Amino acid sequence: MEMLEFYAAAIPGTEKALCEELRELGFASVRLNRGGVPFRGEPSEGWRACLESRIAQRIQLLLGRFPCPSEQALFDGVQTIDWSAYLTPNHTLSVSAVCIASTITHSGFAGLKVKDAIVDQVRARTGRRPSVDREDPDIRVFLYLANNKATLYLDLSGEPLHRRGYRKETGDAPLRETLAAAMLRMSRWDRSSTLVDPMCGSGTIAIEAAMWARNMAPGLTRKQFGFERWAGFGADDDEALRTMRGELRAAVSGQVPRIIAADNDPNVLDMARANARAAGVKLAFKERDVREMQGDQAAHIIVTNPPYGVRLEKSPTFCREVTAIFSRLHGWRVCLLAGSPDYERELSATPQYRRRLSNGDIDCVFLVYDID
Ligand SMILES: C[S@@+](CC[C@H](N)C(=O)[O-])C[C@H]1O[C@@H](n2cnc3c(N)ncnc32)[C@H](O)[C@@H]1O
Repeated sequence: MEMLEFYAAAIPGTEKALCEELRELGFASVRLNRGGVPFRGEPSEGWRACLESRIAQRIQLLLGRFPCPSEQALFDGVQTIDWSAYLTPNHTLSVSAVCIASTITHSGFAGLKVKDAIVDQVRARTGRRPSVDREDPDIRVFLYLANNKATLYLDLSGEPLHRRGYRKETGDAPLRETLAAAMLRMSRWDRSSTLVDPMCGSGTIAIEAAMWARNMAPGLTRKQFGFERWAGFGADDDEALRTMRGELRAAVSGQVPRIIAADNDPNVLDMARANARAAGVKLAFKERDVREMQGDQAAHIIVTNPPYGVRLEKSPTFCREVTAIFSRLHGWRVCLLAGSPDYERELSATPQYRRRLSNGDIDCVFLVYDID
């Protein structure tokens, strides 16, 4: 069987967690890179990664690498690839590009050249041109051009993989599902002890935790992936994908640890309830102010994403009060995605684990404390 090279793209800071996840899922030749994780496998391994990875933002297929010192070299390099497996004139496409330290400096121009080369090849073969669709293309091509070396990828995911399909409504600052999944892995939660998100918002962390504990593949809630729209994806592939989905569904476990999702805002709790229902998981919901948490019960793990920015400015003592409560939870593990440096400052102890992560355009730090 043909062995292909794939690239799992990660949110900055989650690469290591993604690498660990893909190894655990049994993918082959998994390597840790900056920005993502390459792995190898037969074509269906790319589909499996879309269905099973909780942390990857996108799965891409490596189409080719070639020297690219000029415009013409880019055009010729793209034309050496046989695009008929992926698109016909009836398909739409989009191309995005990144240019670093190369003769071609403008990414928009590079993307246009790649598009022209693909379209010209299809037209030479069929007499018609496929068109561009930036919003919802059938085919998404990525060019990475660094030091005059081009690497071309084709996206398998379609919509980014954090769009699992279960989150219908969100509060003010929802976390991407893939980031929540990475935080859970970094927290070293054992997937059986009680987990609490005391500021759950739309419930992303708690829902991802329940799905992970039950071994529910995150892609099972997705209607479609990008690769299902490729020209070469035929009836046999469709059948094989259906079988893969069926096997993953059969592997879902009924065992659910207690997962508590709390927030002091009843409206966002309603959203979290609806999202959990759509994801097919059961959580214990509580309308509660985090500052009322008691530490006299059995030790649990907290994984949470407390308010930051404007919300925090409105209540200058909030951070101090919350960290004081957390510091009294003896025997607990407290894991925070902090979008404000105040949390780390107030907690004062050295965290057991600390990692910088990007939450959209906000630089955050993920902190893990075992409270003595
Ligand atoms: C950054 S958001 C969490 C977003 C969440 N991770 C998600 O994916 O939707 C912070 C949450 O803390 C909640 N919150 C703010 N003050 C609180 C308090 N005193 N007690 C409990 N929850 C609070 C807000 O209602 C908000 O939902």
